Amino acid sequence: MDVLSRSTQETEELAKRLATQLKSGDVLALHGDLGSGKTTFTSYLVSALGIEKRVQSPTFVILRRYAAESEKKIQAVNHLDLYRIQSREEVEDLGLSDLFSEPNSITVIEWPEVAEEFLPENVTKISFEYVDENTRRIHAQNLN
Ligand SMILES: Nc1ncnc2c1ncn2[C@@H]1O[C@H](COP(=O)(O)OP(=O)(O)OP(=O)(O)O)[C@@H](O)[C@H]1O
Ligand SMILES: [Mg+2]
Repeated sequence: MDVLSRSTQETEELAKRLATQLKSGDVLALHGDLGSGKTTFTSYLVSALGIEKRVQSPTFVILRRYAAESEKKIQAVNHLDLYRIQSREEVEDLGLSDLFSEPNSITVIEWPEVAEEFLPENVTKISFEYVDENTRRIHAQNLN
């Protein structure tokens, strides 16, 4: 999937469409510069999954977990932001494989490059590119 999103609303529609294609255990690696729309997309994705939580950038806590209060196919979203992670050791300390194997959960990772070697082979890469103030190019591997 490769789209030009011309507004946050279009990014919301995209997140809704992708949400229907996700399954438990999926790991999404969100690539893209500062302000390219990774957290905005994650927030819409969490809503589209029916999880009513305010999504904030996890930058200062590295990991936030959003869990649904009623029964859902995907019950929780682990949202990581590795912007401040500098070393392989710090990545190891996060225990990513335990997060990835949580039942009925998916994991979304901003700034995933530092953790590349720890990501599963079937990771879904989504890249975000700033085009102009309201426009972002969004490209997702393996999603329609
Ligand atoms: N079409 C669009 N899609 C998504 N966001 C958009 C769009 N147009 C404008 N924006 C704005 O771009 C900003 C994206 O910020 P956001 O925090 O999502 O970026 P980020 O990629 O998570 O950055 P960081 O690397 O700092 O975490 C938001 O203020 C959002 O409203
Ligand atoms: Mg962000």
